[in-house]
Amino acid sequence: MLKRLLAREAIRLVKSGMVVGLGSGTTAREFIKALAEAGVDDVLLVATSSDSEILAYEVGLGDRLRPMWAVDRIDLAVDGADEVTKDKVLLKGKGGALLREKIVDYAAEKFVVLIEEHKLVERIPSNNPVPVEVVPWAWRFVAREVEKRFGGVAKLRQDGGKLGPVVTDNGNYIIDWNPPGFIDPYLEDELKAIPGVVENGVFSKRRDATILVASSDGTIKTL
Ligand code: A5P
Repeated sequence: MLKRLLAREAIRLVKSGMVVGLGSGTTAREFIKALAEAGVDDVLLVATSSDSEILAYEVGLGDRLRPMWAVDRIDLAVDGADEVTKDKVLLKGKGGALLREKIVDYAAEKFVVLIEEHKLVERIPSNNPVPVEVVPWAWRFVAREVEKRFGGVAKLRQDGGKLGPVVTDNGNYIIDWNPPGFIDPYLEDELKAIPGVVENGVFSKRRDATILVASSDGTIKTL
């Protein structure tokens, strides 16, 4: 399985004494499992979602976990992404963990992104909406404001339409925005300038990231 191959490759970057940021999503989950299998017991871990945190406990890494406020640095962050351009602009947040992911990924000394080849795109967004995490009370205002300022359609993320809005680990809602076309990376800041927006899924400020890309034939190349 390609995600597992990617995870094993990333494990080689983990060194003794590091503080490691754990991303979220199915690929990051493979990394967490690989970390447990590798038996690295002198690292500290900062999880970017309750899902990653729970998995870390389940695979025996619970005593390694620290909250972000308890560490003074992140040496290495390993995360997945939904879309990645050749100049390393990422689209993230399909799983709703974008806020803590951005904090940890941007804080990291070294940032490594694990993706399968089909996630490489010319420009974002290609196959996904742009997630915008918002203060719940302001969600409708933010959705209208996004549409007014930038066009397209902004919708509240619902949990299958049955259980109401998706609530993030931070108690916020998510608006999924389908812009009228591709967006420019500076939209990351423009979206954040709307009152009520907490964060968004455009990650344009880690062009120094190492992107490991797995092809269907099992080879891994580095961008
Ligand atoms: C979580 O909110 C996302 O940002 C994930 O990092 C992203 O969706 C990648 O997830 P997969 O590895 O499951 O594709």
